[in-house]
Amino acid sequence: MKVAIIGTGYVGLTTGVVLGFLGHEVTCLDVDQSKIDLLNGGKSPIYEPHLDELMAIARSKLTFTVDTEKALAQAEVIFIAVGTPSLPDGNPNLTYLSSAAQAIGAHIQAPHVVIVNKSTVPIGSGNWVESLVRDSYRAENKTQTSQFMVASNPEFLREGSALSDMLYADRVVVGADEPKAVQVLRQLYLPLIEQSFKEPSFIPRPSGFKSVHFLSSDLQSAELIKYAANAFLALKVSFINEIAELAEKVGADAHAVAYGIGLDSRIGSRFLQAGIGWGGSCFGKDTAALISTGQEYGLSMPITQAARAVNSRQRARMIEILMHELKILKGRKIGLLGLAFKPFTDDLRDAPALDIAQRLIDRGAKVVGYDPIAMDRAKLEWKNTDIQYAPDALSVFDEADAVLLVTEWPEFKTLSLEACAEKMKNRLVVDGRGIYDQNKMTAAGIQLITFGKSS
Ligand SMILES: NC(=O)c1ccc[n+]([C@@H]2O[C@H](COP(=O)([O-])OP(=O)(O)OC[C@H]3O[C@@H](n4cnc5c(N)ncnc54)[C@H](O)[C@@H]3O)[C@@H](O)[C@H]2O)c1
Repeated sequence: MKVAIIGTGYVGLTTGVVLGFLGHEVTCLDVDQSKIDLLNGGKSPIYEPHLDELMAIARSKLTFTVDTEKALAQAEVIFIAVGTPSLPDGNPNLTYLSSAAQAIGAHIQAPHVVIVNKSTVPIGSGNWVESLVRDSYRAENKTQTSQFMVASNPEFLREGSALSDMLYADRVVVGADEPKAVQVLRQLYLPLIEQSFKEPSFIPRPSGFKSVHFLSSDLQSAELIKYAANAFLALKVSFINEIAELAEKVGADAHAVAYGIGLDSRIGSRFLQAGIGWGGSCFGKDTAALISTGQEYGLSMPITQAARAVNSRQRARMIEILMHELKILKGRKIGLLGLAFKPFTDDLRDAPALDIAQRLIDRGAKVVGYDPIAMDRAKLEWKNTDIQYAPDALSVFDEADAVLLVTEWPEFKTLSLEACAEKMKNRLVVDGRGIYDQNKMTAAGIQLITFGKSS
């Protein structure tokens, strides 16, 4: 099929590359010329494992452009994958979505077009997008030969394993009021659903994985599935963090508790890692949007609100721990291991590292950070924050009064603890992700504080 993708960010680019790999003719459109230039040079503007390699394989099926007409005129399926960042009131900013919808209305020419919302959008946006497309189609489209339908196809990929998540998805959800739109998208995704493609050697198919569940629903349900999924994952993290704080007080070990409850198949073991909580572009934004939608309908959403409150407390706890241990933060040198909101990505949106660094700087501390992938982006995006950057992980420990493990990159786990200890002024590590072994730290002469264990 001829596919256009509007927005070549984490979601749009992954979708485009995967659909090209599956054999579709894909045109990826973005307003950012520098991203398109990089892509035309065969380089991904974002860090995502194996994206460059898969892009190279799918190269003959992919076109990257800033030319809206070229991208949209012949497309039979158009994905909208633009950003929907939070506004200060918690509602998503829909300006990118509305300009994408208007561009679609102005340029479509194929006889039948399915317009697919892949961006995470508030419930009801499918109808809104349809009306925007229709208005712009009537006002600006010179050919007026197309019939179009709108569908919702929320995305569930995780940055850092986005390609595997898309190729071997738990499910594909499509919401539409027109059965024809569902049929077209089922056809588009058929190689994924049936797993009929040859697996790329560098993203192997999980053993026993035979097919992807295809779920069709009405528009609103598909839109709500995305918000409900993210809110549920967010509250799972906050729940274990709340239990972890109690565990510290009563002398229990939250890791043992998480393991114990996770063995119950009704609960499951994933997303039960006590620590500094979630970050990233989705959980904070989507839980805020869900609460806002509830408010619009006069409904309070106390569980989602509590998940957010606990998450923000986790970041503050890092500072409380340091104040308890060091007493004075003014003039202290604090190291941060990791800047991205999670490993294997360079995404810094709502990264706990920035929040924690800012709180420390506000209290007069000097902050030195390191991240194996996200550091160049941090230097640009956080240029107004007075963080200093270390050339490597070990240098973060130089003369440090404390080091905080913020992102669980594998290389931080294999550091020589003896070498770290030697460099520190004061041997204190606060492990915000639960990766370090207490006995090994003690043997190296470092005091380790972990969330969910009384020290
Ligand atoms: N990042 C994730 O892990 C993830 C996962 C699931 C869902 N989502 C949702 O997917 C959507 C996109 O997220 P993202 O992380 O890929 O965002 P992103 O900011 O990385 O990418 C958005 C891209 O859209 C481009 N753009 C904006 N307006 C445009 C326009 N009118 N025409 C063409 N291009 C335009 C931007 O230049 C940018 O490259 C959001 O709604 C997000 O909530 C994200």
